[in-house]
Amino acid sequence: MSRTPLLAGNWKMNLALDEAVQLAAAVVESCRGLAGREVMVAPAFLHIPAVARVLQGTSVLLAGQNMCWEKRGAFTGEVSGPMLKEAGASMVILGHSERRHVFGEDDELINRRLRGALACDLTPILCLGETLEEREADQIFEVLEGQLLRGLGGLDPEEANRVVLAYEPVWAIGTGRTAGPEQAREVHAFLRSVLADRFEKTLAESVRILYGGSVNPENIDSLMAEPDIDGALVGGAALKSESFDRIIHFAS
Ligand code: PGA
Repeated sequence: MSRTPLLAGNWKMNLALDEAVQLAAAVVESCRGLAGREVMVAPAFLHIPAVARVLQGTSVLLAGQNMCWEKRGAFTGEVSGPMLKEAGASMVILGHSERRHVFGEDDELINRRLRGALACDLTPILCLGETLEEREADQIFEVLEGQLLRGLGGLDPEEANRVVLAYEPVWAIGTGRTAGPEQAREVHAFLRSVLADRFEKTLAESVRILYGGSVNPENIDSLMAEPDIDGALVGGAALKSESFDRIIHFAS
């Protein structure tokens, strides 16, 4: 089963507006002539309309970094799926480690957001990952299985098939430490086995699973050499056009 690699830049709460526009233009340049891979950027909400103008008519995909499960209403501080779509986004990152650990989002809330995304035809990237304590206590598979099954709770196979997963060990995000390709391989294979049990084998084979956590120009080739790693969710190294360019052009 062939899965198109996805290289996704999560800009988090970084960049001034003009910097975001310049970086978007550089990503468009990087993607010229690129075939067989998808590239996505997730700017801060306020920067999405300006970045969308730069990306219009190009192959670069645009994502929100979160969204509300409801389409409209009294949800102070939230942004809805229809608002994201209207602004030009086709994808949305959900359950990112910073949402879970800094803002206290739990699996139930993330599942509501995810079902809201599917309902308005946005492609969700569901992030999962264990903390260092959980890894050291040998709870990694239990934690990831729980996050995955609760995150996909209530979905039918057709809906689950539209989700992209991102395995991001919390201890690897922004720390310069990465799970080695072997560690990521083991986890990605495990996530596919959970998907096969919960849904079906063909679905488990077709869902894309990205790796995230200190991905950079030096480690991208060895990560992407793993058959079960279908792309990368990149934070720090996506903020510089040269390093993201190198990541997009990983050796295949
Ligand atoms: P990082 O962030 O690449 O800076 O570690 C990854 C992420 O948070 O998605």
